[in-house]
Amino acid sequence: MRDRLLIYGANGYTGELIARLAASKGLSPILAGRDGEAVARLAGSLGFAHRAFSLTDPAPVDAGLEGVAVVLHCAGPFSRTAGPMVEACLRNGAHYLDITGEVDIFEANAARDGPARAAGVMVLSGAGLDVTPTDCLAAHLKRRLPGATHLALGLDAAPWVSRGTVKTLIETFHLGMARQDGRLVIEPIGHRTRTIDIGRGPVRAISVPWGDVSSAYHSTGIPNIEVYVATPGGVGAVFGLARRLSSVLARPPVQRALQAIAGRLARPGPTEAQRRGGSMLIWGEARDGARTVTSRLRLPEGYNLTALVALEMAGRALRGDVKPGYQTPSSAYGADLILAIPGCTRSDEGERPA
Ligand SMILES: NC(=O)c1ccc[n+]([C@@H]2O[C@H](COP(=O)([O-])OP(=O)(O)OC[C@H]3O[C@@H](n4cnc5c(N)ncnc54)[C@H](OP(=O)(O)O)[C@@H]3O)[C@@H](O)[C@H]2O)c1
Repeated sequence: MRDRLLIYGANGYTGELIARLAASKGLSPILAGRDGEAVARLAGSLGFAHRAFSLTDPAPVDAGLEGVAVVLHCAGPFSRTAGPMVEACLRNGAHYLDITGEVDIFEANAARDGPARAAGVMVLSGAGLDVTPTDCLAAHLKRRLPGATHLALGLDAAPWVSRGTVKTLIETFHLGMARQDGRLVIEPIGHRTRTIDIGRGPVRAISVPWGDVSSAYHSTGIPNIEVYVATPGGVGAVFGLARRLSSVLARPPVQRALQAIAGRLARPGPTEAQRRGGSMLIWGEARDGARTVTSRLRLPEGYNLTALVALEMAGRALRGDVKPGYQTPSSAYGADLILAIPGCTRSDEGERPA
């Protein structure tokens, strides 16, 4: 019988946060990862079962998914891990959720919609800060303005990121992306700039390849999508440097060197005190040529939020609340999913002319 939740990559910074939250909620997931010792240590401390397997060959992954109804995949960069885990879920009839924010992974998983439907399996990407709140806000804006043709989303730059996030950003953040007339376009990072008010007055913001340029299109069908990050102080300078050096940063030897540096120097992630004291604002705007609507979200700190939303969706999936095929957070669980998370609130501005 398949009735268990398996958290893969549980010994990583974010996987461990999710495992600890699961323990505090009285859940009993199986913890898994390729580092058997680290996974066993964590599972032992929480009283959970554990399994050790890597993703390099299909047979051990199939064995690792025995009895598993839902996989919450937390091992990234997902460019190296998502494909084998999704394929294993399709082979074994387990629902798949991940916490990726990588546009290529959203697109690759969207392309598996047909096989996922045929297998009766849900493949849901973006069950973290990137992209659950922005995706829910996009769906809410679409609900407010059903004929919207343009969507812009904006968020604060995170004050701290985990080692795994740094490694993922090294792979993805030298190129920008937006959605134009329904197609993904690649452009320099920070190619678009505008002033936005994410909830504490106007700030300068630049465009980034946040996952919504893929996922919000699947959630809303809005053909033009841009995502901005506010760039106070030195943040803009970092993006400016990435933009100027983009062709150098993409070279494999440079990528390898940066990954090694991140592995040695980046901190595992924010401390508990930093997470407890943190909060985030998110802004979204949709327009249809005649009207513009704006809404905002106020959220807990990003890694705590990731743990909360990932476990919320995994729990729903475990209770049988699933939609087979490729799903985004809002296509599976609706625009108001984010309001089910403690500490999340939404506000709407009145409609105004475009
Ligand atoms: N969507 C969001 O908002 C959000 C939030 C948080 C994190 N993330 C993403 O989640 C990922 C993990 O972040 P983190 O902070 O937890 O990183 P981390 O602390 O470095 O942990 C990474 C985890 O992934 C595993 N892993 C990495 N490569 C693997 C591979 N090829 N095969 C099997 N396992 C592999 C690691 O296993 P080993 O210990 O054996 O290396 C470890 O368990 C990153 O991609 C990050 O960007 C997204």
